[in-house]
Order: sequence, then structure tokens, then C-alpha cells
Amino acid sequence: MAANLKGRNFITLKDFTPEEIGYLLDLAAELKAKKKQGITGNSLKGKNIALIFEKPSTRTRCAFTVGCVDEGGHPEYLGEHDIQLGHKESVKDTARVLGRMFDGIEFRGFKHATVEELAEYAGVPVWNGLTDDYHPTQILADLLTMREHLGELKGLNFVFVGDGRNNMANSLMIGMSKMGVNCVILAPKALWPKEELVALCRSYAQESGAVLNVTDQISDVKDMDVVYTDVWCSMGEEDKAAERLALLKDYQVNDGLLKKVGSSRGIVMHCLPAVKGNEITEEVFERYADVIFDEAENRMHTIKAVMVATLGNQ
Ligand code: CP
Ligand code: NVA
Repeated sequence: MAANLKGRNFITLKDFTPEEIGYLLDLAAELKAKKKQGITGNSLKGKNIALIFEKPSTRTRCAFTVGCVDEGGHPEYLGEHDIQLGHKESVKDTARVLGRMFDGIEFRGFKHATVEELAEYAGVPVWNGLTDDYHPTQILADLLTMREHLGELKGLNFVFVGDGRNNMANSLMIGMSKMGVNCVILAPKALWPKEELVALCRSYAQESGAVLNVTDQISDVKDMDVVYTDVWCSMGEEDKAAERLALLKDYQVNDGLLKKVGSSRGIVMHCLPAVKGNEITEEVFERYADVIFDEAENRMHTIKAVMVATLGNQ
């Protein structure tokens, strides 16, 4: 399906229609197939992209770097101590400077408002590589991985188990609801997503024919095709470790939980990095390692698709 996303920012999936998300997945699958045959492109030839990282990263940084170079572009990493962003120089001024020199800007950091402000003032496409609130590029990789392992997305049953108010839970709710995937957030009440976002995602689910539920009862969850988890303490919340362990210890993805909520063809996913022994057992992680590392690889193909679609020459 063709979609023209040239010049668009990629801040959250709220801004994209199911057709546009489907287009990005198709493009990623095409780029992935070509790369497997040793074919890369020139779509980003002559383009310079800035990679701003306030927080650390393995997958996202490497995906933007490799994806950009594969398409003939030049990536420039700007780490926490490399630029003045938000300290000695305002976000608005940094955006206007980088926008004069770069053709696209990736931002990973704390406040979601920062990526929105960069997008407002840079004048070039800005891509969200994770904020405290959202992680939209991860969802594209997750959807592509689900398609590869389970086929048609519509009608699949998906459960996110863990910190239901973190960036992954928020973004998964948006992505699954938009794409017709029935979605459950399984989390203790203290870690439920904001009611306002749940209501918005329910409106997406209504459009796509899916159902979105939030529960703290494992017994409410059955026949899941995908069981997804993430760390109990996101970056920047390390001081909450003891509190989270107490809240989430009964929500570990282990064999007992899978037996209760899983289906016969079910898979387990994790955005990584994983803290084995907390949100997932080593045993379950290793059993589903092929899926989990396909998911990690797909970060690169999907991020490449986002750059090619919003900035590429073809
Ligand atoms: N999943 C993910 O975003 O990984 P990184 O933090 O390593 O980029
Ligand atoms: N919720 C995690 C996601 C890491 C990809 C974090 O923000 O640290």
C-alpha cells in the first residue's frame, strides 16, 4: 500500500493511520528482504542525520546508525555530554541549529515535551527514539515480528505484563489498538496506564474492531497469542527498584503464568534489555530467544523504513 510520509515527524503512533503503519511495516519487510540478499539502497544519499541520546541505548542507536549508512546517509551521534541541549542552550535553539545542518533528527531522552519541541522548531523530520512516555519505533519492530511469526495481525490476542504505565505499555496500547490486535494490560492497580490514554486507545480499538482491557487479575487473561514484558524499572527510575519488586513479583513471565494465559501457538516477546529473574525467567527467555532476537533485529529494518519513508529520495 502506498503512503506519502515525506517530511513527517515520527513522535507517537497516535499521529499515524493504520494504513500508514501498515505501509511502514511493508516497507520494512521489503528492505529486510533486500538486505538479506546483500542489496542496500541510496535513499539517504547526501543526508546527514543527528542522533541525540540523553539516555543510553544499544538497539535504537545501532538501528539508526546501520539503517542510515545502509541507505547512503551519514549519522552523527550526539550523546548526553556532547551538546548543550536543555542545559546551556534551550531546546528551541538547539532545534533551530541542528535543523540548519541536518536533514533528520532522532531524539532519545527523558521528557516527551523535548521531542515535541524539537519537532516544532527543527524544520526537518524528528524521530522519537524513546521518551519517558512513548517508544514508537519499538512498536513497529514488534508488529513486524508478530506478523512474521503469527501472520495476520487483526484478531490476535496480546497481553503486556508488567509496569502498565511505562513508555512500552503506552505505545503498545496505541499500536495494538490501531492495528486490530486485542490488547490486555496486566498490571497491579498502582501501575495502570492513565485513564485518558486508555480511553483514546479504546476509540482506536473500536475503529479497528479490537478490544482493549486493563486488569490486575491473571485469571482474566486467557488464550494469548503474544505475552510481552519489559523491565520493571525504566531508565531514570532505578531508585524505584524495591517498590517495583514488591508490586510486580506476582507478574513475572514464568512457566506458571504462561500456562494460565498462553495459547498453544503463543509467543513471548521482550523489547530488551531484559532483567532475567525479574520480569522474565531465564528459562522462558531462552525458549523464546529466536523471537526476541528477531524482534531486536527488526528494530533496524523498521527504523530504516521510517527514515526512508519520511526523508528518503525514493
Ligand atoms: N529496545 C530498545 O529500545 O533498546 P535500547 O534501549 O538498547 O535502544
Ligand atoms: N521501559 C524501558 C524500555 C527500554 C527499551 C525503559 O524506558 O527503560
